[in-house]
Amino acid sequence: MAVAMGARTLTSASTSLVLPKSLSKGAASALLGHVKLWTSVKVGGSRAMCTNSSGVRRGGIARSAVSEVTASKIGAISTEGLPVKALMEVLDAAGHRGAEVIMAALDKPRSIDYKGKADLVTDTDRNTELAILEVVREKFPDHLILGEEGGVSGDSNSDYLWCIDPLDGTTNFAHGYPSFAVSIAVLYRGRPLAATVVEFAGGPFAWVTRTFTASAGGGAFCNGQRIHVSSNDMVERSLLVTGFGYDHDAAWETNLELFKYYTDTSRGVRRLGAAAVDCCHVALGIADSYWEFRLKPWDMAAGALMVEEAGGKVTRMDGGPFSVFDRSVIVSNGAIHDKLLEKIQPATEKLIADGLNFSQWLKPTGYNSDV
Ligand code: IPD
Ligand code: CA
Ligand code: CA
Repeated sequence: MAVAMGARTLTSASTSLVLPKSLSKGAASALLGHVKLWTSVKVGGSRAMCTNSSGVRRGGIARSAVSEVTASKIGAISTEGLPVKALMEVLDAAGHRGAEVIMAALDKPRSIDYKGKADLVTDTDRNTELAILEVVREKFPDHLILGEEGGVSGDSNSDYLWCIDPLDGTTNFAHGYPSFAVSIAVLYRGRPLAATVVEFAGGPFAWVTRTFTASAGGGAFCNGQRIHVSSNDMVERSLLVTGFGYDHDAAWETNLELFKYYTDTSRGVRRLGAAAVDCCHVALGIADSYWEFRLKPWDMAAGALMVEEAGGKVTRMDGGPFSVFDRSVIVSNGAIHDKLLEKIQPATEKLIADGLNFSQWLKPTGYNSDV
């Protein structure tokens, strides 16, 4: 494949691109990955014609589409030779090891500490993370790790970053209320490459788990079965989900207003209390969208990939391209995404104009990322 558009050239086994110099190396390699399914692209004037592997022609990709194509996907575009299968096996082992620790602690007295006024942490959060780390470190000792409880460890020169939330939905867990999960994603140069979420459903005397998995370009699955987002395209027929973090700042206030607005204009807005589970419910097609301000990379990385791979859409709440290091996320079935943004985007832009900090956070120092 060849594209003639400017001065930066990138090649892969099947693809060669010449792109504008102004495009960063990271953005260019992301684009390379996102167009690699196309076997030929010829640019004439401001339009391109593409032929995909089944010979179907698609036309009309303007030069301005470059940034849109790059921005539209959050998943990683390369594994740098590490087979996804190997990663999935370790994700699966780590997720299930973590889930065993949580299962063993259910319906038993807990030891609760406080990170903030209402921000709980239990000994199970810490023990689960240790169990997960043991599995990951044994197989990939040179990978970088960002765990909610243990922070950053491993080699900061690694392109692989494991984002681990050992127990997402700690408050629910502490109360024995369903909706909590183990959430693990591995990023390649900042983009989610593969992920698992083990959701605890049911409740006292009836706990069960279901396991979500996804890999970039490989689809999303629940207990091994392919899953898809819903097809509903009407906000007024949507079941929506949101969340409220522990920091009760201006973004939290704005989301209360959005909660009120959409409770009035949709079939309802749920607030379950486990971001990874909320995303998986959108991927599963049982909810149509979920959004929240101020989540951390370990809250969002796995769930966001799950939604994208189930055919949904993921952006920031101001509509911009999403990275796991951003401070807002909206995931949806795609069909209602722009309709929801009509209200959510200006509300978020107002917060930005008012000076609220939306810069990226929690990216480990020295980590080599394309986002
Ligand atoms: C929390 C949950 C919750 C969300 C908070 C998160 P934790 O994670 O995902 O749904 O509203 O913002 O911090 O503390 O239970 O792992
Ligand atoms: Ca969490
Ligand atoms: Ca947690």
